[in-house]
Amino acid sequence: MPYRPRSPGLRPLVAGNWKMNGSRNDIDEAAKICSAVAGGEAGKAEIVICPPATLLMAMASSCNGSPVRFGGQDCHAEPSGAFTGDISAEMLKDAGASFVIVGHSERRRAHHETDKIVRAKATAALRAGLVAIICVGETRAEREAGGALPIVGGQLSGSIPENFSLERVVIAYEPVWAIGTGLTPTAQDVAEMHRFIRDRLNRHLPEPGGNVRILYGGSVKPANAGELMTVKNVDGALVGGASLTSAEFMAIAGVYR
Ligand code: 13P
Repeated sequence: MPYRPRSPGLRPLVAGNWKMNGSRNDIDEAAKICSAVAGGEAGKAEIVICPPATLLMAMASSCNGSPVRFGGQDCHAEPSGAFTGDISAEMLKDAGASFVIVGHSERRRAHHETDKIVRAKATAALRAGLVAIICVGETRAEREAGGALPIVGGQLSGSIPENFSLERVVIAYEPVWAIGTGLTPTAQDVAEMHRFIRDRLNRHLPEPGGNVRILYGGSVKPANAGELMTVKNVDGALVGGASLTSAEFMAIAGVYR
C-alpha cells in the first residue's frame, strides 16, 4: 500500500539510535544504509543515524554526498570548557552531525537529567545549528496510575527551548516501558499521545505545532513499523536495537516507500 502522510506537509524521519553499541567494524553498516537510501529504499523519509561519538566522524565521512544524516546521542549545554568526558553540540557539528538526541530516558534516569538540563542541551543544539530530537515518555508506573499525558505534558513544557525555530526541533515520544522490551503501546494509545503532543505544541508555541515532527520510539521493528508509522500524528520513528543492522533498519524505513 503506498504511504500516505499522516501529518500532511511533514517529511517523515526515521532515526537510528545506536546507544553504546558498535565499533569500527560496523562503519560498513552505515555505508550499506547510504546505498540503500540512494537506491530509493527509504522512499520520501529522511534517514538519520546516531552512532556512538567514537564512530560519528568516520561514518559521516564514509557517507559523504549521501542524503543520510548523522547525529549525536547527547551533548553538553556549553560550547566548550572544563567538562571532562563531555561533548558539545558544536563538536558534534564539527564531526559531521546534523542532529542530536537530547533527554533520552536512559540519560534522564542514569544521569539524573532534569527537564531544565534537557532544555539547556536542546538550546545548545539549536545554537550549534543542529536539529534537536527531544525525547519524552512515561514509565510503566506512571501510565498505570493514569499519569501518562500529564507526565509527557510536563516534560514537553519543561524541555522545549523557548523561541526556537520549529523546523529544527523534533519530538520523540518513547514510553520508557517500551524501550528494549519488545512491548509497544496499542495504536490507539500512540494516537492519543501523539495527538496530545500535537495539541500541546500548537498551544504553547508561536508557530503552529503542525510543523514539528513527532516520532514514536520503543521496540519499533520491521514487523510493527507499518502499523505504528501509519498512526495519525506519527511522523517517523526513533529506533534502538533494530537500527544496528542495515537490513532491519531499512525494513523499517521501507514503510515510507
Ligand atoms: P529500542 O528500539 O531498542 O526499544 O530502543 C528505543 C530507543 O530507546 C531509541 O532511542
